[in-house]
Amino acid sequence: MNKTIAGLCLGIAAGSFFFLDGSPAGASDLDVAGARKIMQDKLCLTCHTTDGAETLNGAPPLGPTLKGILGSKTTVVVEGAETTVTIDEAYLRKAILKPMAEIKKGYNPIMAPLPMTDEQLDLVIAYIKTL
Ligand code: HEC
Repeated sequence: MNKTIAGLCLGIAAGSFFFLDGSPAGASDLDVAGARKIMQDKLCLTCHTTDGAETLNGAPPLGPTLKGILGSKTTVVVEGAETTVTIDEAYLRKAILKPMAEIKKGYNPIMAPLPMTDEQLDLVIAYIKTL
């Protein structure tokens, strides 16, 4: 292996470590404007705040805030039974794709599934994880 190739490999390895540990370099690459645009178009932002505000357009938001929810515990009702779960990526994905499967305690089952492409869903989830 010559020096250039060795350097290149090292660079790629360092680059992937950078992204794997969720460093700020990865976060700043996130298309925040694109994610918010999708959430605007799909109406997410008519029911959810992303900053924890207690009002949205002058009224209490219909849905829970999406701020800081990753890693927090929440109680959901599944077919009438309450269970406590930790919010992780799989939970977010399910909450968006199948909103009726688990209803967050204290909220009404009013969130409809809003069709989006896999790319849009990945971006929205990546964004919610940073809030
Ligand atoms: C009509 C209002 C409404 C719209 C539109 C809406 N949601 Fe919701 N959402 C809710 C309500 C109410 C809940 C809590 C009840 C439940 O679990 O379904 C919720 C729950 C969630 C949760 C789980 C939060 C938690 O803390 O457990 C996520 C994540 C979420 N919504 C994301 C989205 C995204 C992304 C969109 C757009 C694609 C969206 N929502 C559109 C009302 C809405």
